[in-house]
Amino acid sequence: MDDLQAVSWLNGKVRLLDQTKLPEELVLLEISDHRHIVAAIKNLAVRGAPAIGIAAAFGVVLAVWQADESDRTDFLRNANRAIDELKATRPTAKNLFWALEKMRHVMSKNLNRPLRQVKEAMLNEARAILQDDIDRCRKIGEIGQELLPIRCTVLTHCNAGALATGGHGTALGIVRSAIAKGKKVRVFVDETRPLLQGARLTTFELAEDNIDVTLITDTAAAWAMKRGFIDVVVVGADRIARNGDVANKIGTYGLSILAKEHKIPFVVAAPLSSFDPDLATGADIPIEERDGDEVRRIGSLQIAPEDVPVFNPAFDVTPHNLISAIVCEKGIARFPTEEKLAQWLK
Ligand code: MRU
Repeated sequence: MDDLQAVSWLNGKVRLLDQTKLPEELVLLEISDHRHIVAAIKNLAVRGAPAIGIAAAFGVVLAVWQADESDRTDFLRNANRAIDELKATRPTAKNLFWALEKMRHVMSKNLNRPLRQVKEAMLNEARAILQDDIDRCRKIGEIGQELLPIRCTVLTHCNAGALATGGHGTALGIVRSAIAKGKKVRVFVDETRPLLQGARLTTFELAEDNIDVTLITDTAAAWAMKRGFIDVVVVGADRIARNGDVANKIGTYGLSILAKEHKIPFVVAAPLSSFDPDLATGADIPIEERDGDEVRRIGSLQIAPEDVPVFNPAFDVTPHNLISAIVCEKGIARFPTEEKLAQWLK
């Protein structure tokens, strides 16, 4: 799976593995216009907090790549407009804003150099954001695998794997690293309605790596826990507030309550690029609400009356008191609190 990259840069174009088409079709999109990156983030052709940030960073490069190298004002205007358009795609994942700020910073820092060099510096920065995410995921995996028993079944939600990151994954990175250490790990994954990232993407990428995976419906999670099938829940994050409250795919909060009731550890894995030191608690995290048709339909199949009102939040917030541990590239915070996370946010 590590060779099936969600986002890469190839000969002046951004290559995205179209995640709306998986698992039926393996379609690679070759994009040379940043507006197509904007569309791909909105329609979830690229998704998962770190992967969105990486795609957006390359999107900024595309916006300046063909720019006239003699017109500095025009160059700046195009880059800033693209950054604003990319920022407006999805509101919840911190990584998007983190990556775009890094791109804006590297542009301003280099702006007195010839524009060709500014372009190169921006491409190098986007590449570094990609490589840095792969390195962070590997560290998270290495550190977080300690939390898994030698033989265990993990329940995960949505897709926090290689497809959602530069590679390796966060939650699934922990699973991969544990298996690499010789542990026997099975994964249960729930479908993750409405867009079925668990069913379509997590089962796909785990099966590609020959990892033992079992798909359940979202509604079967409580019963799987009650039956004693689950030893630990491991999920990713889109944004983590200062006090350790975590925004992640809708349904994560419910799983954390179920885990507490069944005395099952609930672990969150995320790079520091998903942490938001500006937000005191999860109540401040903006939660994206998406089109009602995602709930009225499954793929192209309509399953509800055309005009039934729908509430379709893409994420929810799990309060820190329901979390057993947060793992990032710097270590593990058990029973996270603002004081414990502060050491990483300095
Ligand atoms: O709507 P999505 O598919 O972008 O949501 C993705 C998630 O909620 C992931 O769990 C999260 O981004 C962590 S990815 C390492």
